[in-house]
Amino acid sequence: MNNLRSGLPGGIMEHDLSPDAFNASRIPLSGALGDFLGAGSTAPEDARRELMALVDEHVDAGSGVLVGFSRLLGEMLPQDNEGTQVRVVRDRGTAIGEGARARYSDSRFGGNLHTDGAEAPLPAPELFTLLCTRQADVGGALELIHLRDIVAALSDQPDVLDTLRAHFHFDRRGDQPEGESPTVRKPVIFEQGGRAAITHLRSYIEKGHAHPPVPDLSAAQLHALDTLDAVIASDEHPRTGKLRPGELALFDNLSLLHGRTEFQDEPDRSRLLLLLRTWIRRSG
Ligand SMILES: [Fe+2]
Repeated sequence: MNNLRSGLPGGIMEHDLSPDAFNASRIPLSGALGDFLGAGSTAPEDARRELMALVDEHVDAGSGVLVGFSRLLGEMLPQDNEGTQVRVVRDRGTAIGEGARARYSDSRFGGNLHTDGAEAPLPAPELFTLLCTRQADVGGALELIHLRDIVAALSDQPDVLDTLRAHFHFDRRGDQPEGESPTVRKPVIFEQGGRAAITHLRSYIEKGHAHPPVPDLSAAQLHALDTLDAVIASDEHPRTGKLRPGELALFDNLSLLHGRTEFQDEPDRSRLLLLLRTWIRRSG
């Protein structure tokens, strides 16, 4: 298609800003690097450090394989308000659910077994992938628990299951469109596509109910969440293991709660990329 528009002086070609295949790899320059290349007032070392961090995150990290694999399975879903489709999992120095926006995938701490997309409205992402680029020096093992084991453990407490099937407010981690509620209302245990499903991240629920005018968690809700978390913590057979560099794992995000053990790296490696993640809505 010809992008020349009539009326532009001297045959200047107007920039074509329509979305294309490069969109997933475009990185807006800001911070020290943007300043160095623009006003030039930043020290070259600061700009170099930022540039090297970008290279570490984005160059030859194997995301092409991940994107190709994910697209074979269905539609890749945006993972935040910015439309991120391949999320970099690394220690960004935050605690789980810290502040208004930090997420599990930004921290190095463990526990808090959860499903991905707990901060987003239903339907939940059916699948997610993790591509391991390196292992942490210590810790960082994945832990998995299946919904059917949780429901079986709660089968003698129908009141708890009933409460978990009613609505809770989950904090949106700042991803809500402007002017909309900072929480999303949905059950913890629900049905999607004709099958039982779970969406859970305890600290997002607690933060959701701390937003005025959202009511506090009721005694029944607190009891149900405590009971659920006690079942998760007491699971005798969590599947635990470490992904190896280059391994790509595919997870059923409707049935599996996942988490990891706390990890630790040598200081010079502590903020480097560990995993790349996609969320997928299955097609067909
Ligand atoms: Fe996760």
